[in-house]
Amino acid sequence: MSNVAKHIGFDIDRDNIAIVSIDIQDKGANVLSAESIEELSLAVRKISSSREIAGVVFVSAKPKQFIAGASIDEILEIKDPIVGEEKARIGQDLMESIEKLSVPTVAVIEGPCLGGGLEFALACTYRIASNQPDVVFALPEVKLGIIPGFGGTQRLPEVVGLINAIDMITSGRNISPRQATSMGLIDDVVPKELLLKVAKEWIAKGTRKRHPRKLSGLKSAIEKFPLTKALIFKSAHKKIMQATSGQYPAPVRALEVIEKTFNSKDPYRYNLEAQKIGSLIASPISKSLIQLFMATERVRKTKHSLPPRPVNKVAVLGGGVMGSGIAHLLVSKDKWVRLRDVANEPLLHSITNVFNLFEKERKKKRESKRWTESRMNHFSVTKDFSGFNGSQMVIEAIVEKLDVKKQVLHECSQHLPNDAVIATNTSALSITEIASAIPNPDRVIGLHFFNPVNRMPLVEIIQGEMTSVQTIATAMHLAITLGKTPIVVADRPGFLVNRILGAYLSEAIRMAEEGYSILDIEHQAKEFGLPMGPFELMDEVGIDVAQHVGKYLADSFSYFPRPSLLLQSLVNAGRLGKKNGKGFYIHTKKGKTLDAKFAVKQLGFSVAQKTSDPEVIRTITDRMILIMVNESYRCLEEGIVQSEQDVNIGMVLGTGFPPFRGGPIAFAKSRGIPNIVARLQELTKFGAHFAPTEKLKSSI
Ligand code: NAI
Repeated sequence: MSNVAKHIGFDIDRDNIAIVSIDIQDKGANVLSAESIEELSLAVRKISSSREIAGVVFVSAKPKQFIAGASIDEILEIKDPIVGEEKARIGQDLMESIEKLSVPTVAVIEGPCLGGGLEFALACTYRIASNQPDVVFALPEVKLGIIPGFGGTQRLPEVVGLINAIDMITSGRNISPRQATSMGLIDDVVPKELLLKVAKEWIAKGTRKRHPRKLSGLKSAIEKFPLTKALIFKSAHKKIMQATSGQYPAPVRALEVIEKTFNSKDPYRYNLEAQKIGSLIASPISKSLIQLFMATERVRKTKHSLPPRPVNKVAVLGGGVMGSGIAHLLVSKDKWVRLRDVANEPLLHSITNVFNLFEKERKKKRESKRWTESRMNHFSVTKDFSGFNGSQMVIEAIVEKLDVKKQVLHECSQHLPNDAVIATNTSALSITEIASAIPNPDRVIGLHFFNPVNRMPLVEIIQGEMTSVQTIATAMHLAITLGKTPIVVADRPGFLVNRILGAYLSEAIRMAEEGYSILDIEHQAKEFGLPMGPFELMDEVGIDVAQHVGKYLADSFSYFPRPSLLLQSLVNAGRLGKKNGKGFYIHTKKGKTLDAKFAVKQLGFSVAQKTSDPEVIRTITDRMILIMVNESYRCLEEGIVQSEQDVNIGMVLGTGFPPFRGGPIAFAKSRGIPNIVARLQELTKFGAHFAPTEKLKSSI
């Protein structure tokens, strides 16, 4: 194989097929950088000037890969929209030159085919994939605040139809090989060993036309007919606004580009795509999202100081909300799970929960029933500790009571190997205290998952006083294997996330008690970009849990204002939130509505219509958000986490703090620390707890 350059191999085999192999140097994954795009362009020029080449295969020289996107480092560097636009055009030119080759081209995909990588594959005549689990397709650009810029907004709708393309581009979601086949995104899925042979068979078909998309007559008519087409765009727009509350411009811009250019023969249609990505790429929203993405990747790639121990068999204690969620996650990553609960009912419940979660995934992935069966084979339940003796780890998720956890984990440790890691999913209790009940306490650790386990990407790893480095390495590695982003936090009440969230929720309650309209409070939280208002959140978490955590934090930290008795009165009235259908809201199958009568009559709250008074709006927003900022700096001051990056990641991934704001610390910096400090000082008129922390003041 001869190299045209550093990253690209080029060879012509005895069938006169050019094999262009991609192997980006100094990178674990193949990404399209300015340099590699230039080298690929050179390879394509070489092919177009050759008379003997009969077809081209583009393949990754790195195993289990194709191209995972464009270089994020280079995207982050772009500060000028014009530069962004130019860079997009260079990529578009490469794709166009591939598309215009007079011989058939095949993208051979053996791993993630994402972003610029998928746009590259779309420029080829055919796309074939290996049947390995590593293969996944997506145009995830909107997640980084941009849109596909190498022709993806043009070629994807041509290949998979308008509806599929809009969904993929505006959501950025992953598509499995099965889904990709059924929507016509790829032409074939074959065992790895046959890829080259099959690629050549596709080349032998010789057609220059891109493989026709597999749309039914009806679907294709719907997409062509102006009225129904307009409806498709209208409903897509509505869906985007619902999902983003209008805070993320990228999906809307992508939709605009597709709407203006779909089915157009205009040769300049690619310009619109380039212009739109140019303006987005230089925006602060995109920069925040990219920095957050890079920080998360850094955390996930942290090198451990000791090699982690293998964890394949895991025991789980508790088959409730969290225990069954954790069991499902473990099984989904091929671990063997033995779950214990104390009664038949929760055991049955956990089996149903795990089964239902797999069934949902199976239907989405269009797998056969056997897919779920084979997963369920990894899962078994028990009322005693039988089958625990081979486990390398136990994860406890039983009631949040210190004495019960200590007693149960002590008993459990008698049934486990001496070196098995003992992890607890406690929301707030002391790991050091729990460890005191267990022989070899250096193996005890907190592994705090968030609810719902399959969707929340964060895990807090809590280090007790005795927890060993080996135990931390093993827990971190397991969390990463499970697809989560772990942050290591100190063993202090509420750890990181619940402590900051606790300060925010308690402030929301104080404001409602002072007479601010609960509707305004909910609305301003969402205006800021939070996924829901604080009262909705308390209903989701459970009023009893929120009450318990609030009280625990106030008992633990003297500066925390005394908790209101309000939550206790709701608990006493049997209003536990979503789980029993009633909290601040009434929850039904159709959705939820604020129980205004209860809020006014029983709680003495205001439910006045939304205010337009800017001073009230500013006060409500700042009291909720700046209390989180102040608490974030306090956590840094106390060494709860080791870096600002961890606070940002923790709050975005653990609570939905708006990603486009980059996290509480990133938000504080973009608003300006002097401004935040001055405003907090003003807000002390609402309580001494607003006094800015030393760490914040010294960050000016
Ligand atoms: P849950 O009440 O839904 O489930 C607890 C389960 O533990 C019940 O099925 C109960 O029968 C079982 N159990 C009680 N004693 C047991 C024993 N000796 N052995 C085995 N099973 C036993 O509670 P949930 O919500 O799942 O919480 C569990 C733990 O996870 C708690 O420590 C909680 O603080 C923590 N957590 C909860 C979150 C949530 O949103 N629900 C989020 C993060 C952590």
